[in-house]
Amino acid sequence: MASVLMLYGTSEGQTAAVAERMAGVVEATGHDVALLNAKHLPADFSLADYDAAMIGGSIHMGSQPEAIRRLVDEAVETLNAMPTAFFSVSLSAAGDEEGQADAEGLIHDFLDETGFEPDRTLSVAGALKYSEYGLLTKFMMKRIARKEGGDTDTSRDWEYTDWDSVEAFAAAFASSLA
Ligand SMILES: Cc1cc2nc3c(=O)[nH]c(=O)nc-3n(C[C@H](O)[C@H](O)[C@H](O)COP(=O)(O)O)c2cc1C
Repeated sequence: MASVLMLYGTSEGQTAAVAERMAGVVEATGHDVALLNAKHLPADFSLADYDAAMIGGSIHMGSQPEAIRRLVDEAVETLNAMPTAFFSVSLSAAGDEEGQADAEGLIHDFLDETGFEPDRTLSVAGALKYSEYGLLTKFMMKRIARKEGGDTDTSRDWEYTDWDSVEAFAAAFASSLA
Protein backbone atom coordinates (compact mmCIF):
# COMPACT_ATOMS: atom_id res chain seq x y z
CA MET A 1 0.00 0.00 0.00
CA ALA A 2 1.40 3.36 -1.04
CA SER A 3 0.92 6.84 0.39
CA VAL A 4 -0.20 8.97 -2.55
CA LEU A 5 -0.26 12.76 -2.77
CA MET A 6 -3.14 14.17 -4.86
CA LEU A 7 -2.23 17.82 -5.30
CA TYR A 8 -4.36 20.23 -7.31
CA GLY A 9 -4.57 23.87 -8.31
CA THR A 10 -8.00 25.28 -9.15
CA SER A 11 -9.80 28.58 -9.66
CA GLU A 12 -13.45 27.65 -10.11
CA GLY A 13 -13.39 24.16 -8.63
CA GLN A 14 -13.41 21.82 -11.63
CA THR A 15 -9.85 20.59 -11.04
CA ALA A 16 -10.73 20.05 -7.38
CA ALA A 17 -13.64 17.85 -8.52
CA VAL A 18 -11.34 15.94 -10.89
CA ALA A 19 -8.72 15.45 -8.16
CA GLU A 20 -11.40 14.31 -5.72
CA ARG A 21 -12.71 11.75 -8.23
CA MET A 22 -9.16 10.47 -8.85
CA ALA A 23 -8.50 10.30 -5.10
CA GLY A 24 -11.58 8.11 -4.66
CA VAL A 25 -10.38 5.72 -7.36
CA VAL A 26 -6.85 5.48 -5.94
CA GLU A 27 -8.21 4.97 -2.41
CA ALA A 28 -10.54 2.22 -3.63
CA THR A 29 -7.48 0.26 -4.79
CA GLY A 30 -6.20 0.25 -1.20
CA HIS A 31 -3.72 3.14 -1.20
CA ASP A 32 -3.69 6.05 1.26
CA VAL A 33 -4.42 9.38 -0.43
CA ALA A 34 -3.83 12.94 0.78
CA LEU A 35 -6.00 15.31 -1.26
CA LEU A 36 -4.45 18.78 -1.03
CA ASN A 37 -5.10 22.18 -2.60
CA ALA A 38 -1.72 23.63 -3.64
CA LYS A 39 -2.85 27.06 -2.41
CA HIS A 40 -3.55 25.82 1.11
CA LEU A 41 -0.77 23.41 1.98
CA PRO A 42 -0.35 22.53 5.66
CA ALA A 43 2.66 24.17 7.32
CA ASP A 44 4.33 20.78 7.80
CA PHE A 45 3.81 19.68 4.17
CA SER A 46 6.69 17.58 2.86
CA LEU A 47 6.89 15.57 -0.36
CA ALA A 48 9.09 13.10 1.52
CA ASP A 49 5.92 11.90 3.32
CA TYR A 50 4.60 10.36 0.09
CA ASP A 51 5.54 7.40 -2.08
CA ALA A 52 3.89 8.78 -5.21
CA ALA A 53 2.22 11.95 -6.45
CA MET A 54 -0.57 12.94 -8.81
CA ILE A 55 -0.47 16.64 -9.62
CA GLY A 56 -2.96 18.65 -11.63
CA GLY A 57 -3.98 22.20 -12.37
CA SER A 58 -6.35 24.19 -14.55
CA ILE A 59 -5.30 26.41 -17.43
CA HIS A 60 -6.06 30.11 -17.11
CA MET A 61 -4.66 32.46 -19.76
CA GLY A 62 -2.49 29.66 -21.10
CA SER A 63 -0.85 28.86 -17.76
CA GLN A 64 -0.94 26.42 -14.89
CA PRO A 65 -1.81 27.89 -11.45
CA GLU A 66 1.11 29.73 -9.87
CA ALA A 67 1.05 27.49 -6.76
CA ILE A 68 1.42 24.36 -8.91
CA ARG A 69 4.20 25.87 -11.01
CA ARG A 70 6.09 26.99 -7.89
CA LEU A 71 5.80 23.64 -6.15
CA VAL A 72 6.89 21.69 -9.23
CA ASP A 73 9.77 24.11 -9.86
CA GLU A 74 11.02 23.79 -6.29
CA ALA A 75 10.58 20.03 -5.96
CA VAL A 76 11.32 18.80 -9.47
CA GLU A 77 14.24 16.57 -8.47
CA THR A 78 12.23 14.85 -5.73
CA LEU A 79 9.24 14.49 -8.04
CA ASN A 80 11.33 12.99 -10.83
CA ALA A 81 12.64 10.36 -8.42
CA MET A 82 9.16 9.07 -7.48
CA PRO A 83 6.16 7.68 -9.43
CA THR A 84 4.19 10.69 -10.67
CA ALA A 85 1.27 11.63 -12.88
CA PHE A 86 0.27 15.06 -14.17
CA PHE A 87 -3.10 16.25 -15.41
CA SER A 88 -4.14 19.54 -16.92
CA VAL A 89 -7.74 20.78 -17.03
CA SER A 90 -8.68 23.21 -19.78
CA LEU A 91 -11.40 24.33 -22.13
CA SER A 92 -9.19 23.70 -25.17
CA ALA A 93 -9.26 20.00 -24.31
CA ALA A 94 -13.04 20.10 -24.89
CA GLY A 95 -12.59 21.51 -28.37
CA ASP A 96 -11.90 20.13 -31.83
CA GLU A 97 -8.63 18.46 -32.86
CA GLU A 98 -6.81 21.78 -32.94
CA GLY A 99 -8.03 22.69 -29.45
CA GLN A 100 -7.01 19.32 -28.10
CA ALA A 101 -3.56 19.68 -29.68
CA ASP A 102 -3.27 23.13 -28.05
CA ALA A 103 -4.14 21.59 -24.67
CA GLU A 104 -1.51 18.87 -25.14
CA GLY A 105 0.97 21.55 -26.22
CA LEU A 106 0.43 23.45 -22.97
CA ILE A 107 1.20 20.27 -21.02
CA HIS A 108 4.44 19.78 -22.95
CA ASP A 109 5.39 23.45 -22.49
CA PHE A 110 4.84 23.19 -18.73
CA LEU A 111 6.93 20.02 -18.49
CA ASP A 112 9.70 21.54 -20.65
CA GLU A 113 9.77 24.72 -18.59
CA THR A 114 9.86 22.96 -15.22
CA GLY A 115 11.87 19.85 -16.12
CA PHE A 116 9.11 17.72 -14.58
CA GLU A 117 9.03 14.19 -16.05
CA PRO A 118 5.80 12.53 -14.90
CA ASP A 119 5.27 8.87 -15.78
CA ARG A 120 1.93 9.68 -17.38
CA THR A 121 -0.10 12.74 -18.32
CA LEU A 122 -3.77 13.44 -19.02
CA SER A 123 -5.41 16.37 -20.76
CA VAL A 124 -8.84 16.84 -19.17
CA ALA A 125 -11.75 18.83 -20.62
CA GLY A 126 -12.94 21.31 -17.97
CA ALA A 127 -16.07 23.37 -17.53
CA LEU A 128 -17.58 26.74 -18.31
CA LYS A 129 -18.92 27.97 -14.97
CA TYR A 130 -20.76 31.09 -16.06
CA SER A 131 -22.61 31.24 -12.72
CA GLU A 132 -19.31 31.73 -10.89
CA TYR A 133 -17.75 34.36 -13.17
CA GLY A 134 -17.89 38.09 -12.53
CA LEU A 135 -19.43 40.21 -15.28
CA LEU A 136 -16.19 40.83 -17.15
CA THR A 137 -15.04 37.19 -17.04
CA LYS A 138 -18.50 36.04 -18.12
CA PHE A 139 -18.37 38.40 -21.10
CA MET A 140 -14.85 37.29 -22.03
CA MET A 141 -15.60 33.56 -21.66
CA LYS A 142 -18.75 33.91 -23.75
CA ARG A 143 -16.73 35.59 -26.50
CA ILE A 144 -14.11 32.84 -26.38
CA ALA A 145 -16.84 30.18 -26.40
CA ARG A 146 -18.51 31.79 -29.42
CA LYS A 147 -15.19 31.96 -31.29
CA GLU A 148 -14.32 28.34 -30.44
CA GLY A 149 -17.80 26.97 -31.14
CA GLY A 150 -18.49 26.37 -27.44
CA ASP A 151 -21.63 26.93 -25.37
CA THR A 152 -22.72 30.56 -25.06
CA ASP A 153 -25.87 30.23 -22.94
CA THR A 154 -24.67 31.99 -19.80
CA SER A 155 -27.82 31.17 -17.83
CA ARG A 156 -26.28 27.86 -16.83
CA ASP A 157 -22.91 26.11 -16.34
CA TRP A 158 -21.45 23.63 -18.84
CA GLU A 159 -19.30 20.63 -17.95
CA TYR A 160 -17.22 18.80 -20.57
CA THR A 161 -15.18 16.47 -18.34
CA ASP A 162 -14.97 12.85 -19.47
CA TRP A 163 -15.24 11.20 -16.05
CA ASP A 164 -14.56 7.72 -17.46
CA SER A 165 -11.15 8.81 -18.75
CA VAL A 166 -10.42 10.58 -15.44
CA GLU A 167 -11.20 7.40 -13.52
CA ALA A 168 -9.26 5.19 -15.95
CA PHE A 169 -6.20 7.43 -15.62
CA ALA A 170 -6.28 7.26 -11.83
CA ALA A 171 -6.87 3.50 -11.88
CA ALA A 172 -3.91 2.91 -14.21
CA PHE A 173 -1.63 5.01 -12.02
CA ALA A 174 -2.84 3.29 -8.85
CA SER A 175 -2.27 -0.16 -10.30
CA SER A 176 1.25 0.83 -11.41
CA LEU A 177 2.19 1.33 -7.74
CA ALA A 178 3.55 -1.77 -6.10
C1 LIG B 1 -10.35 33.70 -16.84
C2 LIG B 1 -10.25 32.34 -17.48
C3 LIG B 1 -9.22 32.09 -18.38
C4 LIG B 1 -9.12 30.83 -19.01
N1 LIG B 1 -8.10 30.63 -19.89
C5 LIG B 1 -8.05 29.44 -20.56
C6 LIG B 1 -7.04 29.21 -21.54
O1 LIG B 1 -6.15 30.03 -21.78
N2 LIG B 1 -7.06 28.02 -22.20
C7 LIG B 1 -8.02 27.06 -21.96
O2 LIG B 1 -8.00 26.03 -22.61
N3 LIG B 1 -8.96 27.24 -21.01
C8 LIG B 1 -9.01 28.41 -20.33
N4 LIG B 1 -9.97 28.61 -19.38
C9 LIG B 1 -10.92 27.53 -19.07
C10 LIG B 1 -10.56 26.77 -17.79
O3 LIG B 1 -9.37 26.03 -17.95
C11 LIG B 1 -11.72 25.82 -17.45
O4 LIG B 1 -12.85 26.60 -17.16
C12 LIG B 1 -11.41 24.88 -16.30
O5 LIG B 1 -12.51 24.01 -16.11
C13 LIG B 1 -11.11 25.64 -15.02
O6 LIG B 1 -10.80 24.71 -14.00
P1 LIG B 1 -10.87 25.14 -12.45
O7 LIG B 1 -12.33 25.31 -12.13
O8 LIG B 1 -10.28 23.99 -11.74
O9 LIG B 1 -10.07 26.39 -12.32
C14 LIG B 1 -10.08 29.83 -18.72
C15 LIG B 1 -11.10 30.09 -17.79
C16 LIG B 1 -11.21 31.33 -17.19
C17 LIG B 1 -12.33 31.58 -16.21
